[in-house]
Amino acid sequence: MYRMICRNYEELSRVGAHVMAEQVKRKPDSVLGLATGGTPVAMYAALSDMYRRGDLDFSRVTTFNLDEYYPIRKDNRQSYDFFMWDNLFSHVNISRENIHIPNGETKNPEAACAAYDEAVRAAGGLDLLLLGIGVNGHIGFNEPAPALTLATHVTELDASTIEANARFFAQKDEVPRHALTMGIGAIMGARRLLLLISGDNKAAVVKKLFSGAVSTETPASLLLLHPDLTIVLDEAAARLL
Ligand code: F6R
Repeated sequence: MYRMICRNYEELSRVGAHVMAEQVKRKPDSVLGLATGGTPVAMYAALSDMYRRGDLDFSRVTTFNLDEYYPIRKDNRQSYDFFMWDNLFSHVNISRENIHIPNGETKNPEAACAAYDEAVRAAGGLDLLLLGIGVNGHIGFNEPAPALTLATHVTELDASTIEANARFFAQKDEVPRHALTMGIGAIMGARRLLLLISGDNKAAVVKKLFSGAVSTETPASLLLLHPDLTIVLDEAAARLL
C-alpha cells in the first residue's frame, strides 16, 4: 500500500486527478471504475480542465461507476447518473456507449446486477478503480456486515449512510433506502485501487482503517489486502493517525 498525506482537499484532488490522468495517458483505452459523492468533485473538475487544455483524451476510455441509488430516475438531480454527467461526462470527450452506471430505473435489479458484472468482465476488468470511504467504513455501498457480497447486488443503505447523504437532498426521507453496488469481488478484482479520503468527519474511520486489523465491519479495511492500493488523504482526515 502507498499512502500519501496532502495538505488539503485541493491538493488531494490534484493528486487524484494526476493518478487518473497518468493511467489514461499510459493506456488510452483504460477501463476506469468511478465513484461519486462529495470527495471526487474537484478531482473531476481537474480532469475536465486537463481535457479542455488538450492534455487528456477520453475517446477510448471505458467507465464503470461503483453504485447508484435504487430506485431512482436518471433525471433525478440526486441520481449518480446525473452526478456523473454533471461533474465529468458532459465536459470531456468520452463516448456515451463506453459509460456504464448501474441502472436505478430497472424493473429487474437482480438481472441488471448480473449483467453489470458480466460487462466489467467483457471489458477486460477494471484497470484503475477510484474509491471514497463512508464515515462507517463502507466502500461503494458495501455497508459494514458480518459478511460481504462478492457480486454486484441490491443493498439496503445503513442509517449512517442515509444520514450522511441527506445533505444532498431537500429532506432526509427523500434519500432512497436501497442501492445497486459493485460487490467486494469486482472492487478487489480491479488491477489498481485509488482511495481518496478528505475531511475531519473521516478522521475516526481513518484511524480504524489503519488500526492493523481487517474486518468486514470496516469494509474499506479489506482494501489493505490489495497488491496495488494508493490511499491519498488530506491532513484533516489524517489528524488522528
Ligand atoms: C459513491 C460511493 C461511496 C462514497 C462514500 C464517501 O459512489 O461509492 O462509497 O465514496 O460514501 O462519500 P463522500 O465523498 O460524499 O464523503
